Amino acid sequence: MDANFKSIPVRSSEITPKQVYLTRRDFIKAAGVLAGSMALAACAPQLTGTPEPTTAAQAAASAKTDELGDPVNTFDDITHYNNYYEFTTDKGGVAALSAKFKTSPWEVEVSGLVNKPKKYALEDLIRQFQPEERIYRLRCVEAWSMVIPWMGFPLAKLLKEVEPTSDARYVRFETVTRPDEMPGEKDNLYPWPYQEGLRLDEAMHDLTLLATGMYGGELPAQNGGGMRLVVPWKYGFKSIKAVIKIELVAEQPATMWSAISPNEYGFYSNVNPQVDHPRWSQGSERRIGELQRRDTLMFNGYADQVASLYNGMDLRVNY
Ligand code: MTE
Repeated sequence: MDANFKSIPVRSSEITPKQVYLTRRDFIKAAGVLAGSMALAACAPQLTGTPEPTTAAQAAASAKTDELGDPVNTFDDITHYNNYYEFTTDKGGVAALSAKFKTSPWEVEVSGLVNKPKKYALEDLIRQFQPEERIYRLRCVEAWSMVIPWMGFPLAKLLKEVEPTSDARYVRFETVTRPDEMPGEKDNLYPWPYQEGLRLDEAMHDLTLLATGMYGGELPAQNGGGMRLVVPWKYGFKSIKAVIKIELVAEQPATMWSAISPNEYGFYSNVNPQVDHPRWSQGSERRIGELQRRDTLMFNGYADQVASLYNGMDLRVNY
């Protein structure tokens, strides 16, 4: 698998106007590199004719800020600049390709080292755990970021309900496999299904969210509907979309990206401006919608809440 690995020759330090981006993307496509690559690499948004928020709830969401005062991104940015390799590696193409993806009915199985394994219907989870709005920064490993108003509930609520046994130390998450609806899953360059994992204490942290909605409405398919994980202090690839399986396990689980390239996409992958990606700097980022780059914050600005989870770990190391 690694022998076929080719990197995309794109520098994330660039500020890229749309026209330049489109030209470069065409060039990359023509060079035949994009299709063969397994790299997560930086691009800039392709803003197409996207419907603006229409409901009052969406309009209200667009006026909000995160706790640092940063405004939420537009609905258009959030729904038309997506990483979702089960559909395509083209960020601007996910929305159209996922338009017919069925997000309802949705079921999630919680199993493994728990006393009360159970398969839940999404609407029952919503009824039971009462989603709340959480405005989080999402920092992609590719050095771009957004501010997204999620609706969701802490994963901890669900985990407490199934009662992890004393052997449970990690949580493994799996995305749905539906190659007929997700054309990218027919591409066997990637070891589908998309899988992610957290240590149990990370999973139990109050910031760790199961998102069931966004921008005051449902969770769009391209953002991970039916239900996705959101872990705001880690690089975005840890926030796995379209989760159908949550399994409590004893050993650190394999994840899709660390299986492909372990030294680039480690298990922990906490946002850290001091530890560069092997192919680009993580010291700064481009907030989608802004031209000026901004400094990347330790733990994506959530250090006060989460740094203690990593006491004793050397923060200069890419875990
Ligand atoms: N989950 C699945 N199943 N497949 C993916 O390709 N991409 C990840 C993450 N979750 C991905 C995924 C990456 S790299 C990022 S940055 C975020 O989703 C992007 O989330 P967004 O499109 O909602 O902004």
